[in-house]
Amino acid sequence: MIFFDLKFAKKQHELNLQPAPTARGDLMNAKETDGNVTILGIAGSLRQGSYNRSLLRTAKSLTPAGATLDIFDLDNIPGFNQDLESNPPPKVAELKARVRAADSILFVTPEYNYSIPGVLKNAIDWASRPYGDSAWDSKPVAVIGTSIGALGTARAQYHLRQSFVFLNMYPLNQPEVMIANAGSKFDEHGNLKDERAIELVRQILIKLVEWTRLIRSS
Ligand code: FNR
Repeated sequence: MIFFDLKFAKKQHELNLQPAPTARGDLMNAKETDGNVTILGIAGSLRQGSYNRSLLRTAKSLTPAGATLDIFDLDNIPGFNQDLESNPPPKVAELKARVRAADSILFVTPEYNYSIPGVLKNAIDWASRPYGDSAWDSKPVAVIGTSIGALGTARAQYHLRQSFVFLNMYPLNQPEVMIANAGSKFDEHGNLKDERAIELVRQILIKLVEWTRLIRSS
């Protein structure tokens, strides 16, 4: 983990007459020296045999060199309660810390009633609060998803992208990974078996890592 003390850096600037640092720029430059990109993957289903949880495990196995993908399970995240936002339950505190520590986020969303599942929205809301202390701020983010329907979570993904505006996240636009007819794309053990879908997941992870590095260096 890297700590960046802006006051100290500005003091150094006064002494050395180096270009004045910006909080974001120098933090990103400091992190850039890490090389490795850490992605936090969050699937919006609690179902044991969830296709989306399987998809996230597949994504983890396809993560390119120079990056790692860690999975955060949403089990036991309680319903959002604004009365508790300043002193949240331990599982929520853990979520916020894991989001903060990650360089970028991969959401894997099912589609429920043409939108994202409540458990995922709930987690997003918790980690966005209290106001001014959102863990999502400035995080590069990508979205993938699979459903048994013909549109493969398209409507849910566009709803999710709407939240990125207020959360001030940096979404990767393409490729879009919307895996339709999930029932025929996974084998009996829950492994993604569709070659085209596997290739798309591989591609989006490569792009997310590039996108994260680009934003770091900006
Ligand atoms: C669904 N499903 C669904 N599918 C879809 O393509 N569009 C939709 O709007 C909905 N709506 C919906 C609502 C609710 C409450 C449930 C439980 C399901 C079906 C959904 O794609 C299917 O159950 C997936 O298997 C859910 O993802 P996981 O749990 O397998 O990851």
